[in-house]
Amino acid sequence: MAAEDATGATDLKVDSESVSESTLSTPVPSGHVGEAVRGRFPVFRDKVYVNSCSQGALSDAVRGAYEEYLAGWDANGAEWEHWVERSEAARSSFAALLGAAADDVAIQTSVSAAVSALVSALRFDGKRNRIVISENEFPTIGQIAHAQELRGAEIVHVEPDAEAYAAAIDERTALVCSTLVSYRTGRVHDVEAISAQARERGALMLVDGYQGIGAIPYDVAHAGDVVVGGTVKYLLASAGLAFMAFRPGLVEELLPTQTGWFADENVFDMQIERYRPHRSARRFDSGTPPVPNIYAGVAGVGLVLEAGVPAIHAHVSALVRRLVEGVAELGGTLASEPRGPLVCIRSTDAPALVTALAGEGIVASERDGSLRISLHLYNVEDDVDAVLAGLRTHRSLVA
Ligand SMILES: Cc1ncc(COP(=O)(O)O)c(C=O)c1O
Repeated sequence: MAAEDATGATDLKVDSESVSESTLSTPVPSGHVGEAVRGRFPVFRDKVYVNSCSQGALSDAVRGAYEEYLAGWDANGAEWEHWVERSEAARSSFAALLGAAADDVAIQTSVSAAVSALVSALRFDGKRNRIVISENEFPTIGQIAHAQELRGAEIVHVEPDAEAYAAAIDERTALVCSTLVSYRTGRVHDVEAISAQARERGALMLVDGYQGIGAIPYDVAHAGDVVVGGTVKYLLASAGLAFMAFRPGLVEELLPTQTGWFADENVFDMQIERYRPHRSARRFDSGTPPVPNIYAGVAGVGLVLEAGVPAIHAHVSALVRRLVEGVAELGGTLASEPRGPLVCIRSTDAPALVTALAGEGIVASERDGSLRISLHLYNVEDDVDAVLAGLRTHRSLVA
């Protein structure tokens, strides 16, 4: 394809599979993407914001939710019952996003907390003591996996493709971890194929969906036994709220030893006599819910649900394609075939390129020698064109 020829990059393919051509040819109508929502995100008054892979932009809705939390606290003091209700609202919002039942979703404060709770439910002292991870995993996954060596686990590192996973997963594998979208390269992992391999060999599959969920349709019944993610990026809220969703029927088989009183069968019993995990995914909840973050999270996820993830995906895919074509015209190289919201453009000096673009009012980020441009429901073609103009101006920093 043209982009590949222009860049000469072996790992850049703009083919029929990339940026979801099928989605592009069947536009999904939504009055809640692009220009229709942009005005709700004040950062766009002054900036070209293409950094949702670091943090989603702040909306009027999320600001209002924080204010509502403070106003309730001011007016009524401790609003415990309302806070528990908000926590359940967050559970239901995540469930709606993931095609899960609310009973299969646990409320977490971070992906790290979620994954630590998950591995606390696994034993590594028998025949199945292996954890398989790829080089694209976020540091927290690798570090938590290696911490399990203290409990008898053996960690297997693989290349980030389905074939390498297939070769590594066997009857010794307890847990397989795959990111949905690589934070380093933007590569979208074939989590359905990897999940199928894990299932066939009796291993549990964990998907870290942080860099995709909210911008890529995801259904927990189709891929992964457990999917984790949080609200900082494509779910448009802030730090301190994450989710953990289980495939139907799984949660009853898992007994986490990392726990807390909100995981009890009845939190209001205040009992100290025994470990009595809730029958649902609430057994993975922990202590006092992160209330302010829950207010923000419900508002952020609400914007995503209002727009609809298929519509966001179609919108973002069109923008990604425009960017990829522009980079190819410039003779630039991508770190990976971009099939999700994150495009990683190789740079001769990525920190310098981020700084140079910041000088043009463009907010982006970098990892591993690449400029990261991530696109979401509020971005428009003008943002992409501004990035391309910036890259043209600073062409010597594009590899
Ligand atoms: C793929 C991925 N996983 C996890 C995280 C964050 O994990 P935590 O919620 O533990 O901070 C990030 C943050 O950048 C991420 O990109």
